[in-house]
Amino acid sequence: MRHLYLVPPAFLACFLIVLLAGCATRPPRPEYPVADFETVSGIFEKRCLACHGDGHRFGVPSLRRFQDLVPVYVTPGEPERSRLLQVIYPIEEEPKPMPPAGHRVTASEKNLIGEWILQGALWPEGAVLESSD
Ligand code: HEC
Repeated sequence: MRHLYLVPPAFLACFLIVLLAGCATRPPRPEYPVADFETVSGIFEKRCLACHGDGHRFGVPSLRRFQDLVPVYVTPGEPERSRLLQVIYPIEEEPKPMPPAGHRVTASEKNLIGEWILQGALWPEGAVLESSD
């Protein structure tokens, strides 16, 4: 009879061990967006590429490829020397100012771009951005 009583706690213990092991191996999701290529390219695709695709208007540079950005507009590791950040005017979150003007991203998006440059402006080889505007 005692055996029957012991089964459920043993089961529970196994469950807990499996759960805890699962938690330990899964890295926690970051609470804030990280300044990695995925996030930053998403910002470019949403906020910049409608105007900065290939062969748009004369004098408007493409910003689709690594070599479009580096070294002319981005100096990896040195956000303060990167022209890209100088031409961006951040807006605060909603409500948006009217009329919108200049090259605008939110203040936190601009920070992310700066952080990404500081971390070396990593870009997967051959990646080409598409407008998602
Ligand atoms: C509504 C269209 C439009 C959008 C959106 C836009 N740009 Fe531009 N951008 C232009 C035009 C037009 C020029 C060329 C004339 C000029 O320099 O103002 C330009 C020029 C530039 C230049 C070169 C300027 C220089 O002085 O060296 C950079 C760098 C640039 N844009 C970055 C960006 C970035 C980054 C974004 C997204 C945050 C962005 N642009 C979004 C229209 C746009």
